[in-house]
Amino acid sequence: MPPAALQINDLDYRKQSPEVADRFRRMKERPVVLSVRGLEKTFDSHEGPVTALKGLDFDVYRREFMCVIGQSGCGKSTLIRMLAGLEYPTEGEVLLDGNPAKGPCPDRGMVFQAYTLFPWLTVKQNVMFGPKMAGRGGVELEQEARQWIDMVGLSKFENSYPYQLSGGMKQRVAIARALANQPRILLMDEPFGALDAQTRCQMQSYLLQIWQKIDITILFITHDLDEAVYLADRILVLKANPGRIDEIIEVPVPRPRDMDQMISPEFIATKHRVNTLIHPPTEDPKEEKLSIPRLTPVGDDVD
Ligand SMILES: Nc1ncnc2c1ncn2[C@@H]1O[C@H](COP(=O)(O)OP(=O)(O)OP(=O)(O)O)[C@@H](O)[C@H]1O
Ligand SMILES: [Mg+2]
Repeated sequence: MPPAALQINDLDYRKQSPEVADRFRRMKERPVVLSVRGLEKTFDSHEGPVTALKGLDFDVYRREFMCVIGQSGCGKSTLIRMLAGLEYPTEGEVLLDGNPAKGPCPDRGMVFQAYTLFPWLTVKQNVMFGPKMAGRGGVELEQEARQWIDMVGLSKFENSYPYQLSGGMKQRVAIARALANQPRILLMDEPFGALDAQTRCQMQSYLLQIWQKIDITILFITHDLDEAVYLADRILVLKANPGRIDEIIEVPVPRPRDMDQMISPEFIATKHRVNTLIHPPTEDPKEEKLSIPRLTPVGDDVD
C-alpha cells in the first residue's frame, strides 16, 4: 500500500483529531477581537473604478493566528491596510473589541514586507519610538524596550543600527517595535517575503514562540502555502476580481507545531486544499501553456 501522503485526494482537511477539535472549540469561546462587516473598497483609477474587495465578513478571536492567502492582486494588502486604519473602506466597517475602528491607533500594530526601521536610530531607539511618541519615557521604558528586544533574541544588538543587521534581524526588530506599543492585534503583510528560505523558517518558529508567550492576536498575509499551514489556526482564502472570501479553513495540524509536521497527512491535505482554491484546475490545458516559438532544432527536445 502506498504511504498516506501519496493519496492526497483521499485526505480530508476537514477531519480534526479530538485534540484539534477541542482547541478550536476553546478558541471560539474567546471574545472576538476583530470583526469585519460588509467590507468593500473601490479605488478610482484612470481606467475607472476598481473594486478591490467586496462583501467581506469575518471574525478573529482573541489570541487566534489567522493567515490570509490569495492570488496576487486579490486585495490582501488593501484588506490589511483597512484593518490598520491606513485606508478607509468604501462600504462596511471594522470593529475592534466591538467598537468601530477608524484611523490608525496603537491597538493595531503593523509589520510590512519592506524593512521599515528608522535607519538613524539604534535597535533600542527604534523599539522605544512608538511609546515615546505616546509620551512615555524614562528608565522604565528602556527596561521594557530591552524586554522586547530580548524576546526577539537580539539583546546583543540593542545599540546597533539597522545597516548592521541582517534582513531577518531587521524584521525581528520590526516585530519588537510593533509589540512595544502593546497592540491588541498584530497585522503582518508578508513580513518574511523578502527573506531567504532558511531564515524564513527560523522567523516562523520565532513568531510562533512569541505568539505563545504574549496576549496577541495575529493576522498574517502570505503567498506561501507552507507558511500559512504551518502558522495558522485558520486560513482565510481570498478570490480575486473583486476580492472576496472563498473559504475559511480550520487547520487540522496539532500544536505546538514543528517543521516535521510538514509531511503529515493533515498538513498535506490542508496545503492541497488551499492550492486547489488558489490555483483551480483549468478546463482547457492550453491555458497553462505559454505560446513560445520553437528556437531549438527538432529532435533536440528536453522534457
Ligand atoms: N491606491 C490604489 N489605487 C488604485 N487601485 C489600487 C490601489 N491599491 C490597490 N489597488 C488595486 O486593488 C487590487 C488589490 O491590490 P492589493 O495590493 O491589495 O493586492 P494584493 O493581494 O496585496 O497583491 P500582492 O499579492 O501582489 O501583494 C489590485 O487590482 C490593485 O491594482
Ligand atoms: Mg500585497
